[in-house]
Amino acid sequence: MTVRIAIIGGTGVYDPNILTDITEEKVDTPFGLVKVKVGGYQGKRVAFMARHGEDHSVPPHLINYRANVYGLHMLGVKNIFATAAVGSLNSDMKPKNFVFVDQFLDFTKSRPQTFLEEGVIHLDMTDPYCPRLRRVLQEAAQKHGLPYHKTGTYVCTEGPRFETPAEIRMFSQLGGDLVGMTSVPEVVLAREAEICYATIAMVTNFAAGISPDRLSHQEVVDIMDENVHNLRKLVMEAIAA
Ligand code: HPA
Repeated sequence: MTVRIAIIGGTGVYDPNILTDITEEKVDTPFGLVKVKVGGYQGKRVAFMARHGEDHSVPPHLINYRANVYGLHMLGVKNIFATAAVGSLNSDMKPKNFVFVDQFLDFTKSRPQTFLEEGVIHLDMTDPYCPRLRRVLQEAAQKHGLPYHKTGTYVCTEGPRFETPAEIRMFSQLGGDLVGMTSVPEVVLAREAEICYATIAMVTNFAAGISPDRLSHQEVVDIMDENVHNLRKLVMEAIAA
């Protein structure tokens, strides 16, 4: 059976334990080798990939986004649910809220954004995130009574450092709701591969200068851990749909 659905697990989501009969596939892409777990869920074959590696060893700016997305494409994947821990710039989007991202602002600096090594394509980015999968997620969150926002604008920074309060004020003036370090170019490459891609952002903290405290990666991981059961519910409902 072909694999049509993939989960890309971000920070705090390393464990494909919702799947049964898991096998590990090594996919040799033109951009490098990637490891993907494939298992069953409700009669479907589902791929799981840990974005930062299984031991969270790869920082956001060094992730091989092209190999990851191309590897899923080579497996036949047509739909990706990507999880993301994010900081919030929007007072309505509180820690542990889910946000189904619909737009991005790109502040990355050093990441290849196309599979093409030569020639030119100008990819349409009117709907970077898949509206159909977003609806599936909205309905799943509604059904399970989880706190969610139907849409939101994700500001992608280069990282791996967190932002300055001045940067956060600027992002806020530009219309950003959330800040994270990984959605670009992952979403762009998925579009280029004609894969329907949705992000499940989970707010782990208010962004620098909004939060009264200094930020730490541990805080992000701790909040993610506290809410990962809800994230799992959401993903299971969405892939069953
Ligand atoms: N900034 C950038 N990335 C993040 C944050 C943040 O505040 N929280 C979780 N990922």
